[in-house]
Amino acid sequence: MIRLAVMTSGGDAPGMNAALRAVVRMARGTGYDIIGIPHGFSGLIAGECRPLGSRDVGGILGLGGTVLGTTRCLALKTTAGLQAAVASLKKHNINGLIVIGGNGSQAGAYALSRLGVPVIGIASTIDNDLSGTDISIGVTSALDVAVEAIDRLRVTAASLRRVFLVEVMGNHSGYLALMAGLASGAEAIMLPEVKFGPEALMHHLHRLYDQGRSHAIVVVAEGAAYNADQIHQFFTSHPGLASFETRVTKLGHVQRGGTPGVFDRLLATRLGAAAIEHITLGRWGNLIGCVNGEIATTELKHVNATEKRLSPEMLNLANALAC
Ligand code: F6P
Repeated sequence: MIRLAVMTSGGDAPGMNAALRAVVRMARGTGYDIIGIPHGFSGLIAGECRPLGSRDVGGILGLGGTVLGTTRCLALKTTAGLQAAVASLKKHNINGLIVIGGNGSQAGAYALSRLGVPVIGIASTIDNDLSGTDISIGVTSALDVAVEAIDRLRVTAASLRRVFLVEVMGNHSGYLALMAGLASGAEAIMLPEVKFGPEALMHHLHRLYDQGRSHAIVVVAEGAAYNADQIHQFFTSHPGLASFETRVTKLGHVQRGGTPGVFDRLLATRLGAAAIEHITLGRWGNLIGCVNGEIATTELKHVNATEKRLSPEMLNLANALAC
């Protein structure tokens, strides 16, 4: 009997549990044995394992976070860590490993595959910075949280005629900031991918002020060249130039909490099921993602070697409408 192991790894994302549920139920339904590895690669290196049956994943589809737990595992970047992980898989007689996670997790999966371990990755990160997939598990739920918060901030910004600098997550990617800014009608969006500093922002906002704008929302990607605090500092240190009083709100980990929305539940279910289908076909070493609305597989080698870029269409749209 084929014996599989599944883990959730790296930053948690709303929808991870839905993917886990689909993996376990499809595996069991296909006649495979399956165990869960608690706490990601750290749990694997420590030799942890938890048998999983269909009943064990009942009622988790709509839960945020991950019932298996997760970690960011630096040890896997070491030879000793990799060897310990391979030894644990052998000790538990595992024939293949499924890794639900983002860039760092898929890099770990790829490193194990280079040591001969059959692995399959499932695209899961709110950053949406994984190449090989248009969208990852957790992105739309995180965006819903961010846009709901930005809409609230706009109310108080209008009341006191202020500029709110709203910092969103995304690591080195500006995807969350770009899409949250577009969806909330932000007057400016600060991205790692676009050279646009606090002085240029100040002049942009001054133009809006001259046009009668009473307040503004500026969405700032946490990986932008100038973060929200630095922009705020620039504005407060140039009171004569700044047309508006500024305030900073950092959404932070709020974007990762909460329950997965419908899109993420369906995406995660599809990707989890597809992982088992590809294992049945013997197609290891790939990331399971979604391209043009269809299930897509991309070699982990390519995923880890390719930087995902923002959509030029969405960048142009943001430029045209941020006024
Ligand atoms: O990768 C997802 C993410 O939320 C990033 O957007 C963010 O920079 C990072 O994780 C935060 O990491 P941690 O949860 O370890 O603080």
